[in-house]
Amino acid sequence: MRTPSPPPRVLLLLAALSICVGSTALVAGDAAKNGSSSGGDAVVGTYLVVVCRADGPKEGGEALRAWHASLLATVLNTTTDAILHESPQQSGPLVYSYEHVVSGFAARLTARQLGELRRLQWCVDAIPCVNYRLMTTYTPTLLGVNSPVTGAWAHSMGEGVIVGVLDNGIDPRHASFSDAGMPPPPPGKWRGGCDFGGAPCNNKLIGGRSVTPGEHGTHTSSTAVGASVSHARLLRTDVGTASGMAPRAHLAFYEVCFDEECPSTKQLVAMERGAFVDGVDVISISAGDDTQKPFYQDLTAVGSFSAVASGGVFVSTSAGNGGPDEATVTNCAPWVLTVAASTMGRRVVSRIKLGNGVVLHGQTMGRYKAVKHRPLVYVPGHQFSDSLDVRDKIVLCDRSESPRTRGEMVRAAGGAGMISFNNVYRGRATAPRDNMTIPAARVSQADGETIMAYVNSTRNPTASLQFTGVEMDPTPRPAVAEYSRGPCNMSSLGVLKPDVTGPETSIIAAVPGTLPRGNASAHTRSFGMFSGTSMAAPHLSGIAAVLKRARPEWSPAAIKSAIMTTADVTHPDGSPIADDTTGMPASYFLMGAGLVNPTKALDPGLVYDLAAVDYVAYVCGLGYEDNFVNEIIAQPMQNVSCATVSKVAGKDLNYPSFMVTLTAAATEVEVRRTVTNVGEAASVYTAEVVAPKGVAVEVVPNRLQFGALNQRMEFRVRFRRDGGATNGTVEGSLRWVSDKHSVRSPIVVLDGSLNLV
Ligand SMILES: *[C@@H]1O[C@H](CO)[C@@H](O)[C@H](O)[C@H]1NC(C)=O
Ligand SMILES: *[C@@H]1O[C@H](CO)[C@@H](O)[C@H](O)[C@H]1NC(C)=O
Ligand SMILES: *[C@@H]1O[C@H](CO)[C@@H](O)[C@H](O)[C@H]1NC(C)=O
Ligand SMILES: *[C@@H]1O[C@H](CO)[C@@H](O)[C@H](O)[C@H]1NC(C)=O
Ligand SMILES: *[C@@H]1O[C@H](CO)[C@@H](O)[C@H](O)[C@H]1NC(C)=O
Ligand SMILES: *[C@@H]1O[C@H](CO)[C@@H](O)[C@H](O)[C@H]1NC(C)=O
Ligand SMILES: *[C@@H]1O[C@H](CO)[C@@H](O)[C@H](O)[C@H]1NC(C)=O
Ligand SMILES: *[C@@H]1O[C@H](CO)[C@@H](O)[C@H](O)[C@H]1NC(C)=O
Repeated sequence: MRTPSPPPRVLLLLAALSICVGSTALVAGDAAKNGSSSGGDAVVGTYLVVVCRADGPKEGGEALRAWHASLLATVLNTTTDAILHESPQQSGPLVYSYEHVVSGFAARLTARQLGELRRLQWCVDAIPCVNYRLMTTYTPTLLGVNSPVTGAWAHSMGEGVIVGVLDNGIDPRHASFSDAGMPPPPPGKWRGGCDFGGAPCNNKLIGGRSVTPGEHGTHTSSTAVGASVSHARLLRTDVGTASGMAPRAHLAFYEVCFDEECPSTKQLVAMERGAFVDGVDVISISAGDDTQKPFYQDLTAVGSFSAVASGGVFVSTSAGNGGPDEATVTNCAPWVLTVAASTMGRRVVSRIKLGNGVVLHGQTMGRYKAVKHRPLVYVPGHQFSDSLDVRDKIVLCDRSESPRTRGEMVRAAGGAGMISFNNVYRGRATAPRDNMTIPAARVSQADGETIMAYVNSTRNPTASLQFTGVEMDPTPRPAVAEYSRGPCNMSSLGVLKPDVTGPETSIIAAVPGTLPRGNASAHTRSFGMFSGTSMAAPHLSGIAAVLKRARPEWSPAAIKSAIMTTADVTHPDGSPIADDTTGMPASYFLMGAGLVNPTKALDPGLVYDLAAVDYVAYVCGLGYEDNFVNEIIAQPMQNVSCATVSKVAGKDLNYPSFMVTLTAAATEVEVRRTVTNVGEAASVYTAEVVAPKGVAVEVVPNRLQFGALNQRMEFRVRFRRDGGATNGTVEGSLRWVSDKHSVRSPIVVLDGSLNLV
């Protein structure tokens, strides 16, 4: 068999037009200031224009689009027909018309038009399109074994469930998307089309659209629902069986990115289509912009609200790669699952031998030719410049935000290799986050100190670098990776994020390949190894599909609750799951409720459920204007007035975790929850609390006796500062324990000193 190599990327010219044009190149305000010159008339970008739906037609489809065009026409000083006849692909101004997830349309606007529009009564808001980025760092390949066998598969492998993956493209002919043994989706369930540039759909890849064989999208799709492929090969090495988390679920793929840029308005279209037109059950999103915004400006939050609350769709998102600083987690809406990332005990080792004989193990992305006995020189960050004098030397440098750029500079200067070491925040984490073009190794902070001390100790320090391949930890002990950290930097939120942790580092899954010549019915079989929170989200999408199949009556919130309350915070031997950067036990800001345990999630005993009305009460409780509330909750309710609905504070949202703030001024907080019995009809649960340091926790009542399935019971938890002051963030837990179940929720108590917006 020929060694598969990735096909060239096909980037359609048309595609470029749909990216959020120019919004960074030209700031709207600047252009407007330049008055009537070309500045004000240049297209500055694509905006989601939110309009008051109440004024529009009752019906959707063409009538709605025509209405949107007529509104836009008044701003553009043109006719509705003229707008309707201009194709959005040919840079027509009306880019998308939304019907379900938000009342509004995406339009290309100049600064002047934007200014005019904002003055109009029917315009509720104009939100600039942003380019979400895929949240991965690539790790092209080597060997290693992935055996994702879990007990959950005995109950469900996601049969009949449709998972919609929103990403940058897919290789539809990959063996991971073969439908051998797959039944068709349940009759009438899939209502979408199939457009994969001529490749046929099948009972695995049932539909959607992609014209680009994207590496990232192929990888995330196969991670979520890929069929089992035995003897998967990576660089001519058999790495065993590759399989998605829900190998019997169906896949709908939506290409929403161009290369690595994913316009938020385009992602919103795919969410609408998947949830309200095509019929997907789970949506998987691995892109974001690592920023935190009010939910009405966050198009992932806007789109997922209606999908979850009205469509019953489960939405899995990644927590972002903004870490390791605190308060960097993104995708904060309580109606989505926010997934943090763990390592897997698989390392791609770059071996360093110092001139004094000391051997250290760093990590790198891929194979390189060994370099032996080269002079080793330390170059501090500020000394990096185009006149770097490092010919034939190995450069030791502080780990910057762009080791790739530094690597390029070292290579351009004729350097032989590069060793980068962590600052104290990144500590022990060595998973490479960049694709280097020279022999390279990323080492821990401690190893960096060792190397520095050696460099300082001798006049002519030397080192050798050697790629030694993948090393498997014989006892894989996942640790929480260096990516995002909670909480969300929004003090009004009241909800702990991230929710849960899934595996992400060094994930082996499908990547595009080339077909054997002359056999159109054959499959491609290439595999690659990537890391990033991008990889964690699709694991949870697949697990959600497994749960949806096994427990079809559960709401998205019930599935999330089951995943969270059964997650592991310790390894099987009882030792705590660690923070990969420090080696210390991971906090809830890192891992959410813990590391997902799909088998236990099938049978949680109790769930914390939420329905549309609860989310509406929560959004109103955030204090947003009615206009913005209605923008978010396009469905199932229209034109809500927060003055007339009951509101709920974030702390009282029926969420499976607890986060409260206690200060000298507010020494006591009470929160409410309701649990629903999904275990044995007759069962008794008692509350077991691990109180955070300096906080007294009282649960009332502390015993819940259920007599029926789906019976709901309410309880309250009182948090009180215990005598002295609490100091910083403290953690504890509440478990409802029966003879069969343990329903665990993390507790986080803040002292008000975290500087949140
Ligand atoms: C506005 O005009 C100034 C001065 O002529 C120029 O420097 C600037 O680039 C212009 N800005 C835009 C957005 O056209
Ligand atoms: C929507 O609500 C606002 C304020 O409550 C009201 O003025 C408006 O008439 C309502 N529109 C519809 C169509 O119900
Ligand atoms: C709008 O279009 C009309 C007819 O083409 C023209 O007379 C008018 O000046 C235009 N207005 C603006 C503000 O461009
Ligand atoms: C990494 O860099 C190599 C060499 O420049 C390139 O061939 C490869 O495509 C890159 N991989 C990724 C995932 O960027
Ligand atoms: C090595 O020397 C540099 C100054 O050249 C100093 O900043 C650093 O702390 C020293 N490191 C060790 C580990 O001795
Ligand atoms: C083409 O590929 C299919 C599927 O892998 C295989 O069954 C068939 O034998 C191949 N045909 C030829 C002519 O190689
Ligand atoms: C709070 O913690 C900080 C840092 O750990 C410590 O320096 C300080 O003494 C503590 N304050 C109290 C009142 O315990
Ligand atoms: C939250 O964001 C604000 C504004 O960007 C910043 O000043 C603050 O430091 C952030 N809080 C944390 C805990 O990072």
